[in-house]
Amino acid sequence: MDLSCEYVGIKLKNPIIVASSGLAENLKNMKKAEEHGAACVVAKSLFEEKICRISPTPRFEIIERKMGKLRSQTFYSFEQASPFDAHEYFEEIRKAVNTLSIPVIPSINCVTDEGWSQYARMAEGAGAPALELNVSCPHGSISFRGGDVEEKILSVAKIVRDSVKIPLIVKLPMQLSSPLSMAKMLERSGIDGVVMFNRLTGLDINLEKERPVLHEGYAGHGGPWAFNYVLRWIAASSPHLNISVAASGGVGSGEDIIKYIYAGANAVEVCSLIYLSGYEAIDMLLEQIKAFMERKSYPDFSQIKGKLSGKAILSNEQIDRRHLFKAQINQALCTSCGTCQKVCIYDAPYQSEKSYVISELCDGCGLCVKLCPVKAIEMVKWSEKA
Ligand SMILES: Cc1cc2nc3c(=O)[nH]c(=O)nc-3n(C[C@H](O)[C@H](O)[C@H](O)COP(=O)(O)O)c2cc1C
Repeated sequence: MDLSCEYVGIKLKNPIIVASSGLAENLKNMKKAEEHGAACVVAKSLFEEKICRISPTPRFEIIERKMGKLRSQTFYSFEQASPFDAHEYFEEIRKAVNTLSIPVIPSINCVTDEGWSQYARMAEGAGAPALELNVSCPHGSISFRGGDVEEKILSVAKIVRDSVKIPLIVKLPMQLSSPLSMAKMLERSGIDGVVMFNRLTGLDINLEKERPVLHEGYAGHGGPWAFNYVLRWIAASSPHLNISVAASGGVGSGEDIIKYIYAGANAVEVCSLIYLSGYEAIDMLLEQIKAFMERKSYPDFSQIKGKLSGKAILSNEQIDRRHLFKAQINQALCTSCGTCQKVCIYDAPYQSEKSYVISELCDGCGLCVKLCPVKAIEMVKWSEKA
């Protein structure tokens, strides 16, 4: 089976890129990524700001969130920059480029025009096949400082484009007025690819201590919940771009990677999953991707790449708004717990002798079906309703 794909002019043996983070902080870690099957690594970002090179301890937290019956988690962290200085960083990149068989892409985050230009030239000099511009770090980045983020990103892109010839990738923040417009502007500036997206910056508060949690500042937060937002933008953007697009956010399974490819991604960057499960997670992702491709008899990605993007996603005008369905309770299964009645804003369910029943007031929204603890409710075609 051929899982290869093309990203900023580089052939990757599969779509999995280990995203910029401590997971690819040095040659030792990059080797682990390669051994477990990653097709490419993006090195931990080198920051021009020296203070960012020392991360506090501890720097990881898993924050649990509850909303009624829903549970979610955020992987919350404050791991800032590579601990290396610029010289050490690009020496490590040079070693990795010469040692590994997979592409090694450095990542830089600067505060001055000279810094962007100088680090980019050092990356090119170290033999990097491409360079990722981290203009989106949730701590200490352009986006964090406010102002006209889009203008600053374009200005950085232009400075670096004028400085080096290697393919350039801009890692976008989620907080943009239009990620597609931004990507289009970058395409016109000669940028070869975009990553959608870096993590968001968040905050949590320890109410007992009456202080922010962890290092008492803001922190990056992500998790499986990030996936759907990223997928939406990959699907909406990819048909309009002639440059590469890598998805980054919330990957938890091989199926997630497949979904990103359906949406049009050239490659997929994975980070949190590997932090939380070890580099073995890459083997698991590859097995799940292969299993899907085998089950569907696809020899490669050519038939699925971008299949569910752009016009394949219904527009507001195209959505079928007919009310064809109503909820119906299976009386044999209903335990009369009353959940359906409590959550119905149409006041449709009522208690009959044996169980709850859905009245004519049902709007067909389907929420009770999702919340019934014993799965006693189903949606039925209006005309078929008993
Ligand atoms: C601990 C940690 C460190 C990270 N460090 C960097 C970094 O140095 N540079 C960068 O561009 N992104 C960094 N990221 C963001 C990831 O590269 C990735 O884009 C993001 O976590 C979304 O992917 P995920 O949901 O698979 O984690 C980091 C993320 C985590 C969790």
